[in-house]
Amino acid sequence: MQDPSSIDAVQELLAGTGYVCPRPLATVLFLALRLGRPLFLEGEAGVGKTEIAKALSLATGRRLIRLQCYEGLDAGAAVYEWNFPAQMIAIRAAEAAGEADRGQLQHDLFGPDFLIERPLLQAMRPDEQGAPILLIDELDRTDEPFEAFLLEALSDFQVTIPELGTITAPEPPTVILTSNRTREVHDALKRRCLYHWVDYPDFARELEILHARAPEVAETLSRQIVAFVQALRTEDLFKKPGVAETIDWAKCLLALDVIDLSPEVISDTLGAILKYQDDIMKIQGSEAKRLLDEAKSSLETA
Ligand SMILES: Nc1ncnc2c1ncn2[C@@H]1O[C@H](COP(=O)(O)OP(=O)(O)OP(=O)(O)O)[C@@H](O)[C@H]1O
Ligand SMILES: [Mg+2]
Repeated sequence: MQDPSSIDAVQELLAGTGYVCPRPLATVLFLALRLGRPLFLEGEAGVGKTEIAKALSLATGRRLIRLQCYEGLDAGAAVYEWNFPAQMIAIRAAEAAGEADRGQLQHDLFGPDFLIERPLLQAMRPDEQGAPILLIDELDRTDEPFEAFLLEALSDFQVTIPELGTITAPEPPTVILTSNRTREVHDALKRRCLYHWVDYPDFARELEILHARAPEVAETLSRQIVAFVQALRTEDLFKKPGVAETIDWAKCLLALDVIDLSPEVISDTLGAILKYQDDIMKIQGSEAKRLLDEAKSSLETA
């Protein structure tokens, strides 16, 4: 499938997968595809950063390759490793068979059969469906040396394996990097990328997302849920609920056959939207009632 030819086409394509893509985001996505630049997405938890890469892969049929970052991630886990146990077995087998050709054995041991390809290398391999989409998820969890390494990898899309030579991507992958901003990512890396801050959606967009992701929830309840979550986000909380929580909560309420939000129902189900006890304590009871009143009156005036 061809890449979308306009910003509208990007929005349409993603809408087809149930992803509600605001125009500014569609614009950077379009540019990332058109210019072949990596796209760096930052934003709070649960606002749909990871999902963008998944939706793009689903919409274009291009393979999604995910590199999940964590502290201590190194080139071995990100690019390639030699399959050490398999190499040992091959050595034992050669010894047992009395094969004497050491040179050949060494050559074979460091050949493609014993190479374990990790995400960055996989993403450089050609694919029938077009260049893969490489999702480098939660980059802020890695450390600076890995970031520096990544900077190199993203600049030329080639990997040199001493025993095998240099592998170059015939068609560079589309790269999407995400961060929850638990630390600042280095400027040098950011400079390589197009940047977009993924914000909490406004009422209308969040309602649209809820319709797309939980269409079985009735309209009145959906509106109440979104209005309440929007009001909740204006509170001073340790961790504000993301879109993921809104969808989860709606599904919980559906499972409980709730048709109308009440302060009691909210207090009973707060664990679906707030994940810190301090936040739950703060909202439970009178605060939930006040926010619900606020939400309901905003729905009436809308
Ligand atoms: N614009 C959107 N359109 C459709 N669904 C969305 C949208 N934004 C968020 N979602 C839904 O919210 C859920 C959470 O999104 P996602 O996992 O991408 O968040 P995230 O920003 O990567 O969060 P985290 O930082 O916790 O990894 C997804 O399952 C997705 O269905
Ligand atoms: Mg994510």
